[in-house]
Amino acid sequence: MLSIISLEGYTISASDSANSFDFDPAAFVEEKVAEIRSVVRRDRVAIATSGGVDSTACAALAHRALGKGLVCFFMDTGFMREGEVEEVRDLLSSLGLPLKILPAKDRFMKALEGRTDAESKRLVFRETFYTVLGEAARKEGCDVLLQGTIAPDWIESSGGIKTQHNVLEQLGVDTVERFGFRLLEPLLDLYKDQVRALARYLGARVDASERQPFPGPGLLVRCIGPVSEEKVEVLRKATKAVEKHLGALRPAPKQYLAAVIEDERSPSRGGVEVAASRMLLGARVEYLRWLATGVKGDNRAYGKIAIVTGRETEPVDLFGLPERVVHQDGEVVRVVYRISGGNGSKKGKYIVIVRAVETRDFMTAKPSAIPLRVLKRMADRVMEDDRVSVVCYDLTSKPPATVEFE
Ligand code: XMP
Repeated sequence: MLSIISLEGYTISASDSANSFDFDPAAFVEEKVAEIRSVVRRDRVAIATSGGVDSTACAALAHRALGKGLVCFFMDTGFMREGEVEEVRDLLSSLGLPLKILPAKDRFMKALEGRTDAESKRLVFRETFYTVLGEAARKEGCDVLLQGTIAPDWIESSGGIKTQHNVLEQLGVDTVERFGFRLLEPLLDLYKDQVRALARYLGARVDASERQPFPGPGLLVRCIGPVSEEKVEVLRKATKAVEKHLGALRPAPKQYLAAVIEDERSPSRGGVEVAASRMLLGARVEYLRWLATGVKGDNRAYGKIAIVTGRETEPVDLFGLPERVVHQDGEVVRVVYRISGGNGSKKGKYIVIVRAVETRDFMTAKPSAIPLRVLKRMADRVMEDDRVSVVCYDLTSKPPATVEFE
């Protein structure tokens, strides 16, 4: 039988992440190949690959067990990065896995129309994703779906922090009844470093095994508030610039990304600005229009984003700022610092927020100490898009923020 992990009584802590030194990929592969074969028997099995290390390792593992009985799908949700479809096709074909592309952008856009709340957007994404996948899997004669769900996914979902798009059974969703397939999740008890070791063992290229994480819902969880084609396009361009500049750093941050939000602001609460001014001369603090996700204790929080403007300072010198702001106003989960724009010279509609973090297991994270000059150079590139008015850098740790924005 595939291992089933009880969620009862589980508390989230960094020490829960087993480290990769104890992990033996050869033994793991042998055990899981046997398990998959015994559970699947003669069924055809579908897997939705995203090109991320989890689904790639899972597909390569299943391919060892099932050979041609495995069908790999890639869903074009409209929330992928530039060139991603081609990249993923290339990556999987290097592992001998042919890919079937499912174009579904319009279905996602329509389903998300009018939604602004992060959790509601995640639920709509999940529903649309599995409906489209279920239809395609049935057409291919598959009634088993393989997923590369790993431990942090279900721990955070069952902890109520967020609805991870690929967490279903652990939340009590009956996949046979709802979407028409049985679910198989052989990586459920692995952590990220172990999955990377597994991917390397299975022959994945370094650009696959060491690929920085990209969430299943893709750019959707970085498109804060309402979604529109224009907003996603702005984000896609910004993402390209951010990945290029921060990916070139040595060492590169563990994860780096861009998010987008409307440039609509309201004044902060009185005490917040005074507290911020003690750290940053002439600090001005405003709240943005839409909320973002965070963590408080073991629970999910959904709170304000504070944007801080002030004298030019190295971001690393402001890493203590979020704590001061959150201390004054507990509804704030994120503090972002203006790097470029916002002085009235540009009338763009959107703010781009750059986030880069250092982390071991993604359960907690700290902002990366990127030099201001690097951020400024990158911001210049992002600001070339007339629709962008301001570029900010996220100063917040996890907790109280999450790595992604929704
Ligand atoms: P958060 O935002 O929860 O992110 O602090 C922690 C890590 O998880 C990734 N992430 C996701 N990955 N589907 C995924 O496959 C998701 O829905 C999802 N949400 C967050 C995130 O990129 C980070 O590496």
